[in-house]
Amino acid sequence: MLRIAVLGATGRMGINVTRAVASSDDAAVSGALVEPGHDLIGADVAEVAGLAPIGVTVVDDPQQAVRDADVAIDFTLPDAAIINLDACVKQGCSIVMGTTGLNDAQQQALRQAGQTIGVVYGRNMSVGVNVFTELARRAARLLGPDWEVEISEAHHRFKVDAPSGTALQIGEAIAAERGQNLDDVACYRRQGSTGARPPEAIGFTSVRAGTLVGEHTVMLASDTELLRLEHRALDRATFAQGALRAARWLVQQPAGIYGMADVLELGD
Ligand SMILES: NC(=O)c1ccc[n+]([C@@H]2O[C@H](COP(=O)([O-])OP(=O)(O)OC[C@H]3O[C@@H](n4cnc5c(N)ncnc54)[C@H](OP(=O)(O)O)[C@@H]3O)[C@@H](O)[C@H]2O)c1
Repeated sequence: MLRIAVLGATGRMGINVTRAVASSDDAAVSGALVEPGHDLIGADVAEVAGLAPIGVTVVDDPQQAVRDADVAIDFTLPDAAIINLDACVKQGCSIVMGTTGLNDAQQQALRQAGQTIGVVYGRNMSVGVNVFTELARRAARLLGPDWEVEISEAHHRFKVDAPSGTALQIGEAIAAERGQNLDDVACYRRQGSTGARPPEAIGFTSVRAGTLVGEHTVMLASDTELLRLEHRALDRATFAQGALRAARWLVQQPAGIYGMADVLELGD
């Protein structure tokens, strides 16, 4: 039985991870973490997710939460995620990192941890989005550098980072395919007198509204044609199921830093 620690157990994603693990027949929740001072410390993690109790209580000590786990699944906030990563290194527990919005230093910490433990970093854990990223990369390659690329995303009102990690993942994949560095060609804002669009730009647009789970569109345009690729997440459960799939895969791997493309064996 695969033992999973749910980090961020009271969050929207944490609850979905608990439900995904509880409904699987090969995994069980062995620990659960919330932030210090949380009202639900001491509560049963399954009850937090609206399920029958399983005898695993929610704690606020990361090392205690991951101590009995084979893999931790983290959907928290960047600063908390890095503290949790450190606890995983100390306890020799692999980690599936779903938290988005990590800065360069935090991503470097992930790579560093990958020298000791298994790490899957997936800015979008859904199988569909990762196939979508691969299709966008192939489309960019097949269409060539003359086609303009615009990436738009829409999410719920509570999302705190923009553009989404998924939009950046798609942009990075297309830029790499074109031999570019995304930082050199990304256009994140347009307002006022912007001037004409640089042909090599990869443009981003973010919408925040209502309870949208997550929508991404890649538009590729030439002078005479427009190709639009679209993905919509219909339920957060898809990310939790993807994270659990990554956890199952990760326990079979040596220490290292991996992405969902590795888990799903995508790419050339
Ligand atoms: N990779 C993917 O596929 C994917 C999909 C969806 C979301 N995400 C990302 O996952 C993250 C969480 O999203 P969400 O929608 O679940 O957000 P959320 O509902 O705000 O949940 C975040 C959780 O982290 C907890 N937390 C905050 N600080 C903590 C700490 N120091 N230690 C332990 N737990 C702590 C929060 O506790 P409180 O309850 O006290 O606030 C909350 O339960 C975001 O970065 C989001 O972008 C990724």
